[in-house]
Amino acid sequence: MLKVPTRQQAESFIREAELMNPGPWIPHSLYAARAAEIIAQHHPSLDPDTAYVMGYLHDIGRRAGVHGMRHMIDGYVFLAAQGFEDAARICITHSYIIKEIDSVVGERDCAEQELEFMRRFLAGCVYDEYDRLIQLCDTISEPSGFCLIEKRLVDVALRYGTNDYSLQRWQAYLDIQKHFENSMGHSIYSLLPEVAENTFGADRGGA
Ligand SMILES: [Fe+2]
Repeated sequence: MLKVPTRQQAESFIREAELMNPGPWIPHSLYAARAAEIIAQHHPSLDPDTAYVMGYLHDIGRRAGVHGMRHMIDGYVFLAAQGFEDAARICITHSYIIKEIDSVVGERDCAEQELEFMRRFLAGCVYDEYDRLIQLCDTISEPSGFCLIEKRLVDVALRYGTNDYSLQRWQAYLDIQKHFENSMGHSIYSLLPEVAENTFGADRGGA
């Protein structure tokens, strides 16, 4: 049995977090949850409720404030302290499609000790289907809705820059997309609503 909160518990964690640090990460998390649920409904082995909760809580560390890499550790500690180890793991693994601490572009606002913890954690972690699912769902979910994955990758690169791992990461995201599409027998874009409107629409909000 996976150690994850119920949908109701997840909802109350998010409501509390929204009071502490409101922002576009809240609707982003909700879209990531919906994407995970929808993909899981068409997948042979994933549980839709578990997928939804993991998607909803992957960024829960943002409850502690507007932070960079800190949000992964904060989320992990918050959920692990309550015994939700499987949801806690996602707070770290969602950003590391490549298991290298340096692969993520972002502010390194952690203590050296915490970076070392993440390094060891990633080295010892065998990604399962849920880790991969949330890596994908995080990347196709904007605060305004679902987005073509290639557009999202380019938008993030333009906003935060690239590094030596960027092409490897992009390829890994496209491989994961293909992996889930093969498992489901559907394109993700045929299952997620309003991808075209959100990707190409004039009223698209960025965040
Ligand atoms: Fe996210």
